[in-house]
Amino acid sequence: LAGGAVVAGGAVGALLDHELAHDGAPIATAATPAESGAPATVYGRHQPGVVDRAPACLRFVAYDLTAAARTTARSALTAALKRLTPAVESMMAGRWIAEQEVIADGMRPAGLTITVGLGAAALTASGAALPAAMAPIPAFPTDGLDPARSGGDLGIQVCADDPLVVASVVQALSAVLAPQLSARWMQNGFLPSAAGSTDPAATPRNLMGQLDGTDNPTGARLQLAVWVAGGPNPDWMVGGSYLVCRRIRMLLPEWYRRNTTERAAVIGRAVESGAPLSGGTEKSPPDFAARTAAGALAIPADAHVRLTHPANNGGVTMLRRGYSYDDGLRADGQRDAGLFFQAFQTDPATTFVAIQRRLAANDALSAFIRHESSALFAILPGAPSGGWLGQQLLAG
Ligand code: HEM
Repeated sequence: LAGGAVVAGGAVGALLDHELAHDGAPIATAATPAESGAPATVYGRHQPGVVDRAPACLRFVAYDLTAAARTTARSALTAALKRLTPAVESMMAGRWIAEQEVIADGMRPAGLTITVGLGAAALTASGAALPAAMAPIPAFPTDGLDPARSGGDLGIQVCADDPLVVASVVQALSAVLAPQLSARWMQNGFLPSAAGSTDPAATPRNLMGQLDGTDNPTGARLQLAVWVAGGPNPDWMVGGSYLVCRRIRMLLPEWYRRNTTERAAVIGRAVESGAPLSGGTEKSPPDFAARTAAGALAIPADAHVRLTHPANNGGVTMLRRGYSYDDGLRADGQRDAGLFFQAFQTDPATTFVAIQRRLAANDALSAFIRHESSALFAILPGAPSGGWLGQQLLAG
């Protein structure tokens, strides 16, 4: 943590909220469970796996209610979440559970976080009034979505610095949820690991070779960007967030046929340093009015950062916490690789949807990517002390 503060585990969220509410002072991104030395916990204001630094391995799993459970969705979800909560808490602390079938024996939790959200259909089936923020994401002209790996009633993000830990947790979650929910799609993802990074604190590169995450919000802006604080949202979402997932395949042969000058122009940032094409270093603010000696815009009109930057979008911002994926070959022999884009925000309509509408119309990057799946989940607030995830929604 910045400012010399050393805070352990569950106290982090409380401290951040306190500083935000009372000081308005800039605050650092929360440490990962691994960095703070304390396991993540489901209890508290927020779930883990959002503002903490992303560990190297991801598995995202989307579950659907079984046909039978859907007819009694409220009690089915209640039963499932009551069983899920202690299982999640136990595994995040490294107290492995029987449903992991000894796969993780001999392993540490490796910064494990498990983050749980509900989809719109499950909310509606449970009798909840759908928050406006859960309105369906509209279709965009550049979409090529596969319904078989889109949507879902319950979405769970599992992150850790070890792939076997992740696999054992997914095995256990599916067993714990089996009476009411079955997995419909899964996505693996990865980021550079601490073991392989010369500077583990550096912005990670994606499979296009770009520094990806440079201008993510930090400190107080991050907290405001991701956590639902009230407003038009129902009380049961306060402390939660909205997660948009998009599986975005990269057309890598197309991309790597372009030289680095052309690739830089697509994003509006230099390939090697990540600096904006208006000048400076990676963290320098882009100057969208800057011109080259020849009089052209230094950051082209269709550059990805021009279209997405908060200054050009009414100030809206979100946390991008995506993972690369590399799933072998497709039936057509092309690589099945890209970015499993994940964005946490307080209102997808004014953030993801508004920005993606601009990208679909104008983004130079569109020629090199294909959006293949889409999902939206209401990430629940943390569980009340001694209670369960979703209790604020489903109890009473
Ligand atoms: C495969 C698809 C994508 C790739 C490879 C990609 C890559 C990048 C890169 C390299 C940057 C500049 C560095 C940074 O600030 O992180 C960036 C920035 C950004 N991207 Fe994307 N992006 C993709 C999809 C999207 C989508 C779908 C959205 C939202 C609808 C989005 C929103 C943003 C935002 C908000 C920024 C920060 C802009 C700023 O503050 O300057 N990106 N992206």
